[in-house]
Amino acid sequence: MIAIRSEEEIEIIRQCNQLVSKTLAEVAKYVRPGVTTLELDRRAEEFIRDHKAVPAFLGYKGYPKTLCTSVNYQVVHGIPSSYLLKEGDIVSVDCGVLYKGYYGDSAYTFAVGKVSDKVLRLLRVTYESLLLGIEAAKEGNRIGDIGYAVQSHCEKAGFSVVREMVGHGLGKSLHEPPEVPNYGKSGKGVKLKKGMVICIEPMINMGRKEIVQDPDGWTIRTSDYLPSAHFEHAIAVNKGKAEVLSTFQYIEEVYQLEGFNK
Ligand code: MF3
Ligand code: CO
Repeated sequence: MIAIRSEEEIEIIRQCNQLVSKTLAEVAKYVRPGVTTLELDRRAEEFIRDHKAVPAFLGYKGYPKTLCTSVNYQVVHGIPSSYLLKEGDIVSVDCGVLYKGYYGDSAYTFAVGKVSDKVLRLLRVTYESLLLGIEAAKEGNRIGDIGYAVQSHCEKAGFSVVREMVGHGLGKSLHEPPEVPNYGKSGKGVKLKKGMVICIEPMINMGRKEIVQDPDGWTIRTSDYLPSAHFEHAIAVNKGKAEVLSTFQYIEEVYQLEGFNK
């Protein structure tokens, strides 16, 4: 059963996602060469608790941290560690919170200092594919329309779409039905209805689409060790354009204050 959320519920889920967005912007202040991913995690946890919310990933199926920090060839679910970010890295920071009984979930892939043009293009194309997926997520369309929009954009650019990991419904749980693949066929799959809340989260590889799970039981990496990018927004389906409940605006404000490449 896919939940249809009331206006009041969507307002709370928006608050949850706005807090996630602000947490990602707080993290953005510290992303630079020489910082450990563990420090990013500590900053995020403190920020979330200061705002009377609970980190949603911490303890989820035994996950040990607040953030997922996935560097370079890591796709998702990288565990914050003593790894020191270095110039030229990219790091996907994925964050979830529980607040007023509902969940927020969003992710952004940061460039650490200057990155190669090729990697920058991977980030840009992945981000664009998220926006195209959101455009396709309107009432009357189907789940496959979202996947098709993401996949066709990324494959045209020469990149590949991870199949095993998908977006999801969001609300009273972190992961609810439906699954939201980043590949698919137009006109196929569950019909989208006003009030459905879903996370769209393209995970796009520069090289081969295949992934491998690390022995830590969490980290997903590319099979060829080429880089992967990941952006995630939570949206509420509506007539016409979806309402985007998370935002990267706060991150962009940090960039304007502190400069893109620290
Ligand atoms: N945002 C992640 C996802 O949708 C959630 C990760 S939960 C964790 O897949 F426990 F793995 F961190
Ligand atoms: Co998610």
